[in-house]
Amino acid sequence: MRSRQLFGKDNRYFPVLDSTNREAWRMLQQGSAEEGTVVVADFQTHGRGQGDTHWESENGKNLCVSAILKPSFLPPDQQFYLNKAIALAVAEAVRHTLPGRRVRIKWPNDIYVENDKIAGILIENAIIGSRLAHSIAGIGINVNQLRFDPQIPNAVSVAQLTGKTEDPQNCLDRICKALDHWYALLASKQNGQIDKAYLEILFGLGERRPFHRRGERFYATIIGLTREGRLVLQLDGGSQESFDMKEVGFLFD
Ligand code: BTN
Repeated sequence: MRSRQLFGKDNRYFPVLDSTNREAWRMLQQGSAEEGTVVVADFQTHGRGQGDTHWESENGKNLCVSAILKPSFLPPDQQFYLNKAIALAVAEAVRHTLPGRRVRIKWPNDIYVENDKIAGILIENAIIGSRLAHSIAGIGINVNQLRFDPQIPNAVSVAQLTGKTEDPQNCLDRICKALDHWYALLASKQNGQIDKAYLEILFGLGERRPFHRRGERFYATIIGLTREGRLVLQLDGGSQESFDMKEVGFLFD
C-alpha cells in the first residue's frame, strides 16, 4: 500500500500534445498544476530528447509522461540528486515490469536493459534566486513499440523483451509509486542512500569500455561520479578525468 501519494493524484491525459514537458511548463506558467501532477500523452508531435534530439514514440504504444516537481528544499548545486532520484524511480518501475532482467542506469539517466535503451529521461529545472523553484521530469518508456528507427540501433521495448503487450497505464502506476518513494528520500535528505542505490545499478561501473570524445575513441573505466554528477573515468594511461554529458559519449561495439 502507498503511504503517501503525491505523484499521479492529478493526472492530465491528452490524446495528442506537442510535448508533455512543454504542456507541463505551460501549466506551471498558468499556475494550474500542483506538485505531483503528471501530464500524459498518447502521441507527441514534438517529443523532446536530451540535448537537441527528438524523442520518437509510436502513437498509443508507449508511455510519454512528465511529472511536475517543486523541489525548493534542494540547493541548485545538488540538483544532480534529483536526476539520480528520478532515474532510480524509473529503473525501479522498469524492473517491476520486467522481473528477472538486469535493469541499469546509463549515466546520466538513461534506463537500459542489458545493452539496450528502454527509457529516456529529460529533466528541465527552473532556478529562481538560489532555489530550484520547479522541475519537469519527462519520462519516455518504450512499452509496446516493436520497430524503431534503424538510426537508433539499441532501442528496445517491454513487448520485445517479453513477447507480450503491456498496458502503459501499469507502467505509469509503477512510475508514480516509485517517484513517491525516491522523491520522499530526496526530500528527507537521504543522499547517502540515493548515492549507494545509483552506483549499485550504474551501467559499466568498474568495467573497462570504449568511449568517445571530440570524435576520438578511447578506452577507460568508470570509477564513479563527482558531487555535481560528472562522470569520473580512469583513463588507460592511468590518469583520472571527469566529464560532463557534452564532453563524452559511450560507444557500443
Ligand atoms: C532522452 O533519452 O533523450 C530523453 C527522452 C525523454 C522523452 C520524454 S517522453 C515524455 C517527455 N516529453 C518530451 O517531450 N520528452 C520527454
